[in-house]
Amino acid sequence: MSESNVLLTAQHLDYIASHTRAEDSFLQELKAAARASGIPAIWISPEQAGFIQILLKLCRARTVIEVGTLAGYSAINLARALPADGCVHTIEINPAHADFAASWIRRSDVAGRIKVYRGSGRDLLPALPIRDVDALFLDADKASYPFYLREGMRLLRTGGLILADNAFAFGELFATQPQDRETTAMRQFNELIATQTGLQAIIVPFGDGCWVAVKE
Ligand code: DHB
Ligand code: MG
Repeated sequence: MSESNVLLTAQHLDYIASHTRAEDSFLQELKAAARASGIPAIWISPEQAGFIQILLKLCRARTVIEVGTLAGYSAINLARALPADGCVHTIEINPAHADFAASWIRRSDVAGRIKVYRGSGRDLLPALPIRDVDALFLDADKASYPFYLREGMRLLRTGGLILADNAFAFGELFATQPQDRETTAMRQFNELIATQTGLQAIIVPFGDGCWVAVKE
């Protein structure tokens, strides 16, 4: 532990959670319905969502890309930080997840600010007809994060953000015998983004660790 850091405990994290703007009932219902549909409960935490919203407001984001829609929880949070004419372009490879997300997004307060794309980030990112992107949020297959990072460097405006979930590798960052098949990929990505030219990147310890990086 470096000398200026307090060692974070579960109590600190609970304290942060209890001092974060509460989630509304719509997002609570979305999560309950997602669980009931068998969608894995791996959405971002409210603290992570709130932090990302502050970053998007600070950089006055209008155009955001998300890879990995899952249930639509993060897309709705991202869209709520954008102006009325902003758009979250969110990509989901799993058709059942895309259907679930699209139906909840349609009924949300930000339906007009989210476009759901069905397919893989590898296929869709290179074909998206948008430029000068303000932020790219990665929360999908970890083995493809290096590809998404390269695409992000091409698509982002100067001062744009790359956000990438799961820097702590599902809690297995320091495990000697990791159980998750994506842990190695996440560790490799951490080394890659930390030294990416033209990007200042840092891990923020919310949820499972979130990379926050700004294009220079
Ligand atoms: C898991 C968690 C995530 O946030 C994710 O993007 C993928 C997998 C997990 O806990 O397995
Ligand atoms: Mg994730």
